[in-house]
Amino acid sequence: MSLAYQCPLCQQTLQLSNKSLRCDNNHTFDYAKEGYVNLLPVQHKNSKQPGDNLDMVQARREFLNTGHYHFLQQAIAKLVSEQSPNNVIDLGCGEGFYTQAIANFCKGEVYGVDISKSAVKYAAKRYQNCQFSVASISQAPFADNQADVLVSIFAPLFEQELGRLASPDAALIVASPGPWHLKELKQKIYREVNAHTPIPVPIGFELITQTLIEQSVRLSFAEVKNLITMTPFAWKFRPEHWQALEQQGEQNVTLSFYLSHFKKKC
Ligand SMILES: C[S@@+](CC[C@H](N)C(=O)[O-])C[C@H]1O[C@@H](n2cnc3c(N)ncnc32)[C@H](O)[C@@H]1O
Ligand SMILES: [Zn+2]
Repeated sequence: MSLAYQCPLCQQTLQLSNKSLRCDNNHTFDYAKEGYVNLLPVQHKNSKQPGDNLDMVQARREFLNTGHYHFLQQAIAKLVSEQSPNNVIDLGCGEGFYTQAIANFCKGEVYGVDISKSAVKYAAKRYQNCQFSVASISQAPFADNQADVLVSIFAPLFEQELGRLASPDAALIVASPGPWHLKELKQKIYREVNAHTPIPVPIGFELITQTLIEQSVRLSFAEVKNLITMTPFAWKFRPEHWQALEQQGEQNVTLSFYLSHFKKKC
């Protein structure tokens, strides 16, 4: 079953009319020429440009294009398709790198939601096999208990919202940093690097499997630069750190991820 979007202003179901979505209260949201719909009303924005900015989006796009995260992308898409979902929501989908791979593996309808307009614009322009919207995942624009699989890849988790969106048998699949993810880069800025731990089981879900997926890759300075720029710790890198990285040239970097599969509790 495909999912109907919900009006972010009055929670009524949105119906397609021409190239817009409209609720019974006449709240209207137009599809952009790239094919996504913006369901983030100005009054719900807490900044002018919420979510990842264009620099982060471009850096992530370039880094993901190198193929170094291909092994994670394929593992996620395979795990999602094994659930045989009728529909999937990728919460905090960014540029749609994982969303479109999931859509390639699954027969069901795949939705990508992100608060960053720059990211969604890019995703919708590039990938036609999913439905993308700009919206907050703290109040996702879908009805209660309809989603078969919820996916969260390095995105914030809003526990209550996950429970609300999930259908009775739903799966929740979360990718989060593994113990020594990007250890070599973090050592440049932190005196001590602490290992990441697996994410706690979200309220209302039970753990099915938790897999650690790791690879060590050799990256050029340009790749390292993009990899750092797309992470939240980029702002910690000062000019002397960038200089040292550039002088080093190529280096080995650990990529490490927890892939957690939860199921909604009956
Ligand atoms: C680290 S990025 C991951 C993007 C994508 N899942 C990936 O791995 O390529 C986190 C994403 O979450 C989005 N995000 C942060 N807060 C959000 C919110 N409240 N609602 C929707 N998206 C949000 C950001 O804009 C960003 O695209
Ligand atoms: Zn409405």
